[in-house]
Amino acid sequence: MDFSVIKESVGAVPFDEIKKQREYTLLVRTVVDSRFKNSPKAYVHTYGCQGNVADGERIKGMLREMGFVFTDSPKDADLVLYNTCAVREHAEDRVFGNVGALKPIKEINRDLKIVLCGCMMQQKKVADKIRMSYSFVDIVFGTHVMHRFPEFMYRMYCTGKKVFEIGDSAGVIAEGLPVSRDSSFKAWVPIMYGCNNFCSYCIVPYVRGRERSRSSKDVLDEVKEVIKSGYKEITLLGQNVNSYGKADGEMDFASLLREINDLDGDFMIRFMTSHPKDCTRELIDTMAECKKVAKHLHLPVQSGNDRILQEMNRHYTREKYLDLVRYAREKMPSLSITSDIIVGFPGETDSEFDDTLSLVDEVKYTSLFMFIFSPRDGTAAAKMDDPVSHAEKVKRFKKLEELQAKNSIEIASSMKDKVYRILCDTDCGKGLLSGKTEGNMTVTFEGDPDNVGKFLNILITESNSWNLKGKII
Ligand code: SAH
Ligand code: SF4
Ligand code: F3S
Repeated sequence: MDFSVIKESVGAVPFDEIKKQREYTLLVRTVVDSRFKNSPKAYVHTYGCQGNVADGERIKGMLREMGFVFTDSPKDADLVLYNTCAVREHAEDRVFGNVGALKPIKEINRDLKIVLCGCMMQQKKVADKIRMSYSFVDIVFGTHVMHRFPEFMYRMYCTGKKVFEIGDSAGVIAEGLPVSRDSSFKAWVPIMYGCNNFCSYCIVPYVRGRERSRSSKDVLDEVKEVIKSGYKEITLLGQNVNSYGKADGEMDFASLLREINDLDGDFMIRFMTSHPKDCTRELIDTMAECKKVAKHLHLPVQSGNDRILQEMNRHYTREKYLDLVRYAREKMPSLSITSDIIVGFPGETDSEFDDTLSLVDEVKYTSLFMFIFSPRDGTAAAKMDDPVSHAEKVKRFKKLEELQAKNSIEIASSMKDKVYRILCDTDCGKGLLSGKTEGNMTVTFEGDPDNVGKFLNILITESNSWNLKGKII
């Protein structure tokens, strides 16, 4: 292992700590080599957002260096790791269900190790519940101590005892962790961690700590490395990328985008998520000018009603949001805009929901992620009066879904007979491939599996509903 490649970085976990963890990695490797005839197998599953997926790739990097290989089946594994999400109750229920399902597997394979980490585990109440009711779990660790995973593994293997480490810092930046990327052509590159916005419904600031940006040097080094390795799509990640660098003023997000755009190579840059309150005209101008930046803006609106937006603590109005959309479309006529919407925020009336419908109809999103409000312990909205029934919220949700389906069909139809450059990302089998347009719309077409990972020009031949079909030209 080459320690010389790990450099100490601004605001990062100290170099000595990362080095110590690399030493634990080697120790675990020795233990693993002596215990297993063949390389042990790890099943790793990540829930939640792309930021969590990026963490998962670092966790896999650490496991790989500890001597593990990966399997797609928990039944076949020597170690199962769930990297969890806490954003909605449903996400947490799924994790509890899947962890529960490991109990009979562990009864058959007593040597199976079970590790839980990620946002859910950063909540004390969840960690306590695991400790009390899921005693077959071996390691639980929170988001702030992820870089110490090798140390936890060493403790578990050497003492046989359970490890519970949540960590209560405001958050750190851990540079120099190994990464095992899931794809060979799409790379996730975190540029910042945490969130300071405290939208009233959201658990993220509580489980991810304060907003902090990686140094531009660390980001650029990682980007250069993935470009050199042949990656074609680079997605810059943060809960609010528009406030990148704000705390230290070293470089803002627009400048970072320009620097990456200027690097040599045939690749596409994406980013998420943009908070409308911090999405400036300058950023939109930058997007428009930078050829390698995909003309796709994920700009979560959450609601189309000013009172609800204020209750959500979002710091923009419907009009300000629509202004931004108009400006962006003026600068980039082909721009695809997507969004997140919460239906049934506490106290949302029928007419306030109608404002969301009318905004959605005005913006014409290419796609929407819609969620029914889920109260999260500790957040301000969880304490608000919520007189609207779940059945009513489901009704509203369906209305929104129908409207979006109509808009998606219209957008898809307008793409027929036009040519789009897509990155082919999936071999669907039986001679069918699929890929995404710059605007992040999926297109299916016939072709050789060799095309996966390549940019192709595709003529859209059919647009049945929002299903796009095309052919390579
Ligand atoms: N940082 C991003 C969003 C992260 S969470 C942003 O500000 O846009 C992803 C989405 O989950 C949010 O945009 C929101 O629509 C949804 N979400 C978050 N908390 C939720 C809750 N308590 N109930 C329902 N949906 C929620
Ligand atoms: Fe949550 Fe708001 Fe932060 Fe997004 S900006 S992560 S919705 S608190
Ligand atoms: Fe979920 Fe944590 Fe992301 S709560 S949405 S995995 S930051």
